Amino acid sequence: MESLSHAIESARSRYASANPLSQAADTKAQRYLPGGNTRTVLHYDPFPLTMVAGEGAEVTDLDGHRYVDFVGEYSAALFGHTNEVIKSAICKALDTGIAMGAPTSYERELAGLLCERFPSLEQVRFCNSGTEANLMALSTARVVTGRDKLLVFNEAYHGGVIKFPGGHCALNMPFDFVLADYNDIEGTAELIGQVGDQLAAVIIEPILGAGGNIPADRKFLQMLRQKTREFGILLIFDEIKTARLGSAGVQGMLGIAPDLTTLGKFIGGGLPTGAFGGSAEIMAQFNPRLPGALAHAGTFNNNVCSMAAGCAALSKVYTPQRAAEFFDWSEAFRLSLNEMFAAKAVPMYANGLGSMIAIHFSSEPTERPSDISAGCQSLRPLLHLELLLEGVLVCKRGDLFLSLPMDETHLAKARLALEKFADRYTPLIERVLHA
Ligand SMILES: Cc1ncc(COP(=O)(O)O)c(C=O)c1O
Repeated sequence: MESLSHAIESARSRYASANPLSQAADTKAQRYLPGGNTRTVLHYDPFPLTMVAGEGAEVTDLDGHRYVDFVGEYSAALFGHTNEVIKSAICKALDTGIAMGAPTSYERELAGLLCERFPSLEQVRFCNSGTEANLMALSTARVVTGRDKLLVFNEAYHGGVIKFPGGHCALNMPFDFVLADYNDIEGTAELIGQVGDQLAAVIIEPILGAGGNIPADRKFLQMLRQKTREFGILLIFDEIKTARLGSAGVQGMLGIAPDLTTLGKFIGGGLPTGAFGGSAEIMAQFNPRLPGALAHAGTFNNNVCSMAAGCAALSKVYTPQRAAEFFDWSEAFRLSLNEMFAAKAVPMYANGLGSMIAIHFSSEPTERPSDISAGCQSLRPLLHLELLLEGVLVCKRGDLFLSLPMDETHLAKARLALEKFADRYTPLIERVLHA
């Protein structure tokens, strides 16, 4: 009977044989980059693929294999790799100068596009990344409320220095974080009852992305909205990934308005950016025309290429109508995967919503991060490598992000690869989960 470690070893050896050039490039990279890497999430054993080209929804590696790209730059590559509308907006911006050291029309237009789209945003400010957007939102909440504590959720990811895998991260900012459990309505309400008058903010991703694409229960978010109002705490929705869902993000879908929203990833059309915003009253803190305003700095906050790409992306490509259609199409795919897993009676489940999917080894939807079993986690490397070997590029933790240039052929390829995986490994999966 094949063991999990043997199956992973075999997949690694097939993978290494198929990718000699990526392996050599990785070995060389280790001279100047620690472990050959400058972004931890992109490392996996035995070595990551080196990508050399992207076209539409596909990417090509150094050894010449073509993949359907479901990593989708962890959701930022919503537009795929060669969107002509976005490309021409960037080229136009390049032609007219990129480092102006002054306001330009681009950030003004992009601010309007975002505020018109997300009901809770009356005004926004731009920055360089999602991490920075969250740091700014959290710091703003501390200033506005005059309080220090910040309520966050176990397994949440809000950036490289604001993340809570296992509740803690050595690199985190030295904020006074208070941890609660995602989707735990009673426990979280009780905690807010205890420390609510010391809390500046509650920050939550309406779908716990890195923690397994676990959608928040509507009642849980409603409770947070109600309790934060009661205690004068700012509710921050990190919609850096989830803003792509539907025409106005999860807040639009559920009709729950946070005090502050943070955005990033796709809003720059595939180029780096971030944004935070909320009511005009809160954002007035940053109005330089007012005495004592907070000075929010950042050389590249309004960098012309990202702003121009974002304007084209949101006004011409990912219009609210296109976003709504894309959501329905993606959600139908997710549901079809679950039908296929159920028909095969394999304990696998496509968690998430719309174009944000995570494959879990479980027959049921995962509702809390603590429901993810050790067995589920230990099976992930096998799924990851087997899908890569089938030409389906997914995140190492089992996430799949759909992108706009995908068509039914791309989805069929992923479905088939998952089906093949299920057919081959169901007995092993059962053994690992019941060990
Ligand atoms: C929910 C969420 N918040 C914040 C961030 C940080 O964004 P960035 O990588 O642009 O700093 C990410 C990135 O993955 C994210 O998924």
